[in-house]
Amino acid sequence: MANAVPPVAPVDITTTPEWKALQNHYDALQAEGISLKKWFAEDPQRVEKLSFDTSDLHFDLSKNLVTDETIRLLVNLFKAAEVEDRRKAMFAGEHINCTEDRAVFHTALRRPKEDIGKYIVDGEDTVANVHEVLDKMYAFADRVRSGEWKGVTGKPIKTVVSIGIGGSDLGPVMIYEALKANLTGPACRFVSNIDPNDIAEKVKGLDPETTLMIVVSKTFTTLETITNAKMARWWLLDTLRKNGAIDDSPEKEAEAIAKHFVAVSTNLELVADFGIDPVNAFGFWNWVGGRYSVDSAVGLALILAYGKDVFEELLSGFHDMDLYFEGTPAERNVVVLMAMINIWYNNFFGYETHAVLPYNQYLHRFAAYLQQLTMESNGKSVRWDGSPVLCGTGEIFWGEPGTNGQHAFYQLIHQGTKPVPCDFIAFANSDNPIQCEGQDVHELFLGNFLAQTKALAFGKTADEVRAEGTPEWIVPARVFEGNRPSTSIFGTELNPHTLGELIALYEHITFVEGIVWGIDSFDQWGVELGKQLAKQITPALHDDEALAAQDASTRALIEFYRKARK
Ligand code: F6P
Repeated sequence: MANAVPPVAPVDITTTPEWKALQNHYDALQAEGISLKKWFAEDPQRVEKLSFDTSDLHFDLSKNLVTDETIRLLVNLFKAAEVEDRRKAMFAGEHINCTEDRAVFHTALRRPKEDIGKYIVDGEDTVANVHEVLDKMYAFADRVRSGEWKGVTGKPIKTVVSIGIGGSDLGPVMIYEALKANLTGPACRFVSNIDPNDIAEKVKGLDPETTLMIVVSKTFTTLETITNAKMARWWLLDTLRKNGAIDDSPEKEAEAIAKHFVAVSTNLELVADFGIDPVNAFGFWNWVGGRYSVDSAVGLALILAYGKDVFEELLSGFHDMDLYFEGTPAERNVVVLMAMINIWYNNFFGYETHAVLPYNQYLHRFAAYLQQLTMESNGKSVRWDGSPVLCGTGEIFWGEPGTNGQHAFYQLIHQGTKPVPCDFIAFANSDNPIQCEGQDVHELFLGNFLAQTKALAFGKTADEVRAEGTPEWIVPARVFEGNRPSTSIFGTELNPHTLGELIALYEHITFVEGIVWGIDSFDQWGVELGKQLAKQITPALHDDEALAAQDASTRALIEFYRKARK
């Protein structure tokens, strides 16, 4: 239950001298003209000054619309927003999720065993609890991966179906896809949508005798997940019976559920009510937000698919980025700078969206994952004390892997009227190093990543276009004005540790932005109304009394449905 009185109000950031200084600086830059070409020419140290390294990743921020003065003023703003105090509070597991009066402590999920006993939150030894569950998951995964864990008919598990939605789905899917080149355990499928097409497609071709279902839900009340879990239970039992693999005795059904269903939740009572043996349930805690939970038991499918060592590497990547974020001075802290540069674009330039463009096909769900992380966290219009926000919040994140995006929406990024800051993510090594007719295909790929960031930053002048013999009237259409900002994130290879760093990077960027805006990045009240209305409206699809209670537009749509429904 939340506190009856509001917490201490956040800093009124837009009224601070630091904000005003940035506004003046922005006006001055606009007046004198922003030119990355000029800034690069004038300052031979620019790349060096704006390059950063974390344990696995190299960052080049030089193609952003910033000068030394911009960075200085952004760091001042970061300090004025008291982010450092708030960061300390988050790393101590304080209740900074104000509207739900909950601790925010996902950073404990990746703390090593040596930290047991050091972080007591709400009376619990959080790190001890984390490792207890991790050990239980590793032991379970070993049994499944080795074939010791058998289904109801004595066959080992070949496929895992993970059922969850939002934070109980997007992280596991994204990481499963990202690491797929090195799959060593059962293949995983993920069911999230309540659209029955999703589960219908995901169980197609599966043998229930060799399938393990994981029901992942923090609350264990989410309509989509519970409905999908019920459908999965029905499918499993029905198919086993039809195949003659089990009889229809309640004992055999209970045994089948016990052998083929496990759960991940904070609500172990509801897990038991569903019929899943609590022995086969893996817990987590209220201090882990759904979208910050992939490194908790929510990632169980990943341990089954990739094993303990890979998951531990992933956790250590997260933890290394935590240490970096916590311990690096703001002026040289790439997490802080990326967040503050995002604020620079969002609040001073008025750039509303932000593209994340991984040059790695295995990261094809990364943007979808980031959308929940960033937009469910920071898409808010009131601050953590209930007062209205004072400036624009919540950038709109989107993206697709390169080079596919190049042939789709990059036109707008290069020449459109709405500039889009971009994060490019690439790796020096490919999981599939292939030579085609003497050409290293990965080099062709990387050439594209480098070319895009260069074209965006430096463009192409009218004179350069003319020099190619272009008719004068077509020249404007072929000019690239440049000064389109981007950050390049380069890694050695996409491995579990790097991925952990990358995810934690964006978690902390989201955190910094949220604090500067004064919002609670850890609640998500904005998803509630739709859930409530769906419960109220669904009966109107077939019930006249419920239909009469709807607004005119909803009624008209339902009338269309009733006529169209076969
Ligand atoms: O509806 C939004 C949300 O609450 C997310 O924040 C969460 O990740 C998702 O639903 C799933 O919730 P649960 O894990 O409780 O099923």
